[in-house]
Amino acid sequence: MSEFETLAGVHQGLFVLLLLATLLPACKAKELVYAQTTRSLKKSAGWTLFFFVLALLLFAFQVFVTWSLFHSFGWLYIKDKVIGFLPLLLLPLAASLLISVPRLSRLVMGHIRQDKQQATSAPLTFDTASAKAWDEPLLDEAVENLPTTTEVDGFRETATTLEAPTGKSAPLPTDAVDAAWRRDASAPEMIVPLQAAALGALIALILQFMFPAVTLEINKLAIAWGAFVTGVSLLWILHSWRQHRASRPGELRRPHAVLRFLRTVSIFLLLGTSGYFWGHQELLASILPDQLKMVDHSASAAAHEQHSAPATSGKTVSVTDLTGPHTGEPDRQFTLTAQKTTIQLPSGKTTEAWTFNGKYPGPELRMKQGELIEVVLENKDISDGVTIHWHGLNVPNAEDGVAGATQDAVMPGEKHVYRFVAKQTGTFWYHSHQQASVQVRKGLLGALVVEPAETEQPVASYKRDLTLVHHKLADGGITLSGRDTLMLDTVSPGTSVRLRLINADNFPVTFQLLGTPFQVIAIDGNDVKEPNLIANQALKLAAGGRYDVSFTMPNRPVFFAQSKQANGKGLLLSPDGTGELPSMNTELPLFDPTRYGSPQSLPFDLNTRYDREYLMLFDLQVGFYDGRLDGLWTINGKVYPETPIQVVKEGDLVKMTFVNRSFTDHPMHLHGHTMLVLSRNGNAVTGSPWWTDTLNVAPGETYEVAFRADNPGLWMDHCHNQDHAALGMSMHLLYEGVTSPFEMGRGTRNHPE
Ligand code: C2O
Ligand code: CU
Repeated sequence: MSEFETLAGVHQGLFVLLLLATLLPACKAKELVYAQTTRSLKKSAGWTLFFFVLALLLFAFQVFVTWSLFHSFGWLYIKDKVIGFLPLLLLPLAASLLISVPRLSRLVMGHIRQDKQQATSAPLTFDTASAKAWDEPLLDEAVENLPTTTEVDGFRETATTLEAPTGKSAPLPTDAVDAAWRRDASAPEMIVPLQAAALGALIALILQFMFPAVTLEINKLAIAWGAFVTGVSLLWILHSWRQHRASRPGELRRPHAVLRFLRTVSIFLLLGTSGYFWGHQELLASILPDQLKMVDHSASAAAHEQHSAPATSGKTVSVTDLTGPHTGEPDRQFTLTAQKTTIQLPSGKTTEAWTFNGKYPGPELRMKQGELIEVVLENKDISDGVTIHWHGLNVPNAEDGVAGATQDAVMPGEKHVYRFVAKQTGTFWYHSHQQASVQVRKGLLGALVVEPAETEQPVASYKRDLTLVHHKLADGGITLSGRDTLMLDTVSPGTSVRLRLINADNFPVTFQLLGTPFQVIAIDGNDVKEPNLIANQALKLAAGGRYDVSFTMPNRPVFFAQSKQANGKGLLLSPDGTGELPSMNTELPLFDPTRYGSPQSLPFDLNTRYDREYLMLFDLQVGFYDGRLDGLWTINGKVYPETPIQVVKEGDLVKMTFVNRSFTDHPMHLHGHTMLVLSRNGNAVTGSPWWTDTLNVAPGETYEVAFRADNPGLWMDHCHNQDHAALGMSMHLLYEGVTSPFEMGRGTRNHPE
């Protein structure tokens, strides 16, 4: 667990404890009035004070944890806590300290004699006449009957025998609590602040778990405070009324247990039913519509979120027109047929997969930079339909292959042709973008490699060029390039080797390359400038990300595998085809791309003035998605389709800040663009420029990234943990004036992901 997870987890847990801790003094205070003797009243008041002090200490600890979060992670990690949740506790606790505590102390010390006298002699606001009539003769009588007086704590207590209204005489203890005591013990000024603290704790708890980004939803905050003020007002009225009754002379009886039970039950029923109805409404509202036009939705959202005219030029363009070259003989042609396939893994395990061309993973597509590529996608029998997204390759928008945004899913028996020029070089991959959380896991993915064009300049060539796809196959477990056993290969010493690592799983994976120093020569297909030789560093690769590493084969075995749970899996390269698996050292430091290689002057950096800046806060919250209650990974408190739309103009310089306040990694993937990482946790990148298309944002991490908006269209920007994306952790980047005829939703052939 990272420091962030510990602190943020403690912070969340403390809200639960604070609710319990504030409930204790609140309940204790409410019961004071039923004390039979002044002695027990004092004792209970003492306990009330004690519990209050505990609650106060707990709150002080919460403030300390908040400060620690601020100290280590910055304002954005505590903003909602400081503005949204904590005031709901701070205010009533302060009121309790200033108003309840003095009153409680007076009860404890027994310094209410004056009040007591006032109660019996001075006119009171309530039924004074009857109070006198009831009280005085009884007191007198009592004094007559039991002329014993005791000095307790410096004031005189009079033993009394009260005559119950029924006419029966009931002897009471010598220090029985009388109306004056009860009046003080039921003072709303004393009880309500304590109960308000419990109410505030409850509301803060709900906000923390359901609306962690509440400061971005001011209406929610207003509702919370509305509920708080209403609750406190009701409590005040209730306790004023109660005090009125308690201050009347005569015996005060605690309501019958059955009555109290019924009262509690009805309060819970009331809260429960209103909660249920609210929840039910939210649940229904969360059901995704049968059809959802992203651009329609965006046009209105964009207009009010971005303060800018939708299409400045007035011209609009449909994504269907943003295609690659229509004409011309392709330099390379591939056909990919999506089909259900029974595959056998090297371990002997047989499993059902969905594959391209019957291969798991799909065939590796190799091409050269500048070539016109044509890929024909056929769907044999994947009933939900398929598409192909070229992950990391910045193709024209219409070739992006996102069902519901740039095309309709290709249904069984149908075909779709993608045409694009491979402009970048490096390691990429492709996968279905229809119901991706299911289809990628089932095997609809493959590697894509663009080699540099053969030009005048000689390019470094590697004798061994191996692509290694890390994937977790549904029901098949973890595989490396489709293998679930050790891969053994003979490589003669001195051979230059390039490993292209692709992480097609949902989580970051840490690899180790042992037995040789190596260089990380490319990240997400982007060459690293002057990569230095490193050794004994583990490579943590984002879900969806790629690292290319190279080394010269030494005169001993080289082993590549996942740091954890390698159990005999991985790749063993050896000069003679034999070798022993070295044991993995899980303590290796991680390779750090923020300071690796040499810097280079860049078109933009931290000091650039950006045309658009977006802040994206990632939270975990309890909420409804598509008709069910779930833990949701949200962007700025929202799940798709409520997530923000980022509208840009062609040519804009755009900066995004990712802030992960949740408890898991979010590999952020922007389609159609390559992002430059400017800083991590406030520290500028000092090594080679770090260009990426899939950036893992770990819990507690803050990244600033920037890109030039140079590829018009409607682009997805989502978490590449496909399970998070399927739960709505997804948003869009939309160029002004771009429209899309495609619809996403249940009634369409496009699944909402
Ligand atoms: Cu590789 Cu939108 O995903
Ligand atoms: Cu995520």
